[in-house]
Amino acid sequence: MQKEQLRSQEWFGKKGKDGFIYRAWMKNQGIPSHQLNGKPVIGICNTWSELTPCNAHFREIAESVKNGIYEAGGFPVEFPVMSLGETLMKPTAMLFRNLVSMDVEESIRANPLDGVVLLCGCDKTTPALVMGACSVDIPTIVVSGGPMLTGKHRGKDIGTSDIWNFFEDNRSGLMTDEELYVAESCLARSRGHCAVMGTASTMACMVEALGLSLADNAAIPASDSRRKALAHLSGNRIVDMVREDLKPSQILTRQAFDNAITVNAAIGGSTNFIIHLLAIAARIGVDLNIDDFNTLDKGVPLLANLQPSGKYFMEDFYYAGGLPVLMKELQSHLHNEAITVSGKPMSANYEDCDCFNTDVIGSMSSPFNTTAGIVVVKGNLCENGAVLKPSAATSALLQHRGKAVVFENIEDYRLKIDDPELDVEEGDVLVLKNVGPRGYPGMPEVGNMSIPKKLLDKGIRDMVRISDGRMSGTGFGTVVLHVSPEAAVGGTLAVVLNGDMITLDVANKSLTLELSDEEILTRKANLNPGDHIVARGYTHLYQKHVEQAHLGADFDFLKGSSGSKVVKDSH
Ligand code: FES
Repeated sequence: MQKEQLRSQEWFGKKGKDGFIYRAWMKNQGIPSHQLNGKPVIGICNTWSELTPCNAHFREIAESVKNGIYEAGGFPVEFPVMSLGETLMKPTAMLFRNLVSMDVEESIRANPLDGVVLLCGCDKTTPALVMGACSVDIPTIVVSGGPMLTGKHRGKDIGTSDIWNFFEDNRSGLMTDEELYVAESCLARSRGHCAVMGTASTMACMVEALGLSLADNAAIPASDSRRKALAHLSGNRIVDMVREDLKPSQILTRQAFDNAITVNAAIGGSTNFIIHLLAIAARIGVDLNIDDFNTLDKGVPLLANLQPSGKYFMEDFYYAGGLPVLMKELQSHLHNEAITVSGKPMSANYEDCDCFNTDVIGSMSSPFNTTAGIVVVKGNLCENGAVLKPSAATSALLQHRGKAVVFENIEDYRLKIDDPELDVEEGDVLVLKNVGPRGYPGMPEVGNMSIPKKLLDKGIRDMVRISDGRMSGTGFGTVVLHVSPEAAVGGTLAVVLNGDMITLDVANKSLTLELSDEEILTRKANLNPGDHIVARGYTHLYQKHVEQAHLGADFDFLKGSSGSKVVKDSH
């Protein structure tokens, strides 16, 4: 791209007072004039924060990206955006995903950037940054922070998924508080995000499958030196992407989204993938809907033997060959010609790779599991859909009829779940209301409710659970999530009562509340969907504008793009 065509030259190439001010204040950082004189200016959008432990190493990653940008003849400028740490933020990091996407979008558009590198790690940081960048659409590449090393505890490999078992063991007396205290030092033993195929790793695989990152981005451990090398190469590449004017809208085609959905099935990816991919598609203008995620009957097997659906960890996945090997195996189900940030077709990412451990990455002829992907169920309990991940469920429960045991909200659930008087039996269906986008608000990861203590003590480890919330990508169980419409907007979920019969029929993709339409309407007459909205602040904006889960839970006014043009100067 010629100097005159660079977006940054609308700032640094300007004559007069505006140009003077734009350049003069940059120079207070010791930047010599030639750096602002026609080099591609590359933003490094950094979600570093000590409150986001998964991203706490991102200053070092940013240095590697900068080295690559300088080497390729660009000029890097690092800028912070709000960071979302999954473990600390209350009431849930998801409440702020759309806010961060707005921060990212406006930060990119308002500044003299020709291209941008997105540093993504902990769960929501990836979709938030990609959503924001899509709504500007200048050349963009993603560098993920990489997973932690596998946790080691008493001779066993552990990861985030083990937390659920630890706490069920603790509740049932199999693990003491002291043993739990020891385990917490063994789990997160290095830099990086969760070491299993949870949401962060799913998101890292998603960007690689979409073509938004270089090959191998998904799995290189955070503390492996090759993570920094990848960051350096991504810095090299973004400068060329600016010269080629290769934008997200050219990469994120319908074919790219299809590839991501197929790959998500084969890796056993998180159910959160659905909500984030729907939101990204709506930003870039690709027509995608929740039924497109119904991969169960598309013949895509589960190839990755990774927790929570399998046994191994992201570190093992990388050493076995990582996502390129898995995608090579999946070739017959992929659009291999889809263009990636490399400027080459997707097939170039995996044409020269080999599998080094077939127990970790299976083949199409010998997969880890023939059941893969996500099933979208519909019915009078979820007219717009709900989702379930069969590979993380108990197969005997995928066809199940049971009596509802209802929790009106998260407080009600916490109060009752360990109550010995709770009227619940093994075959019942646990129903949790008001944990959806508007109701909670923010749609937290509480959908994989604990098993009631009185049943846990009898050795019961799974039940059908239904809610309008989400589940951690590290979680498992026969859990129906993302019920839409949610209870707080007057969905049928709101009127389920203790003792109502519910049928889950995964084979026929249905979820049914056994009540007549007339009875449901009668019960709904008493609802007041407006009474969840708080009076002020960001939460007010969120509750007023958040869409339902089946649309991606983005704000209704953020769909699409406003482009990268800014016609008014600032002085
Ligand atoms: Fe950050 Fe799991 S807590 S990725």
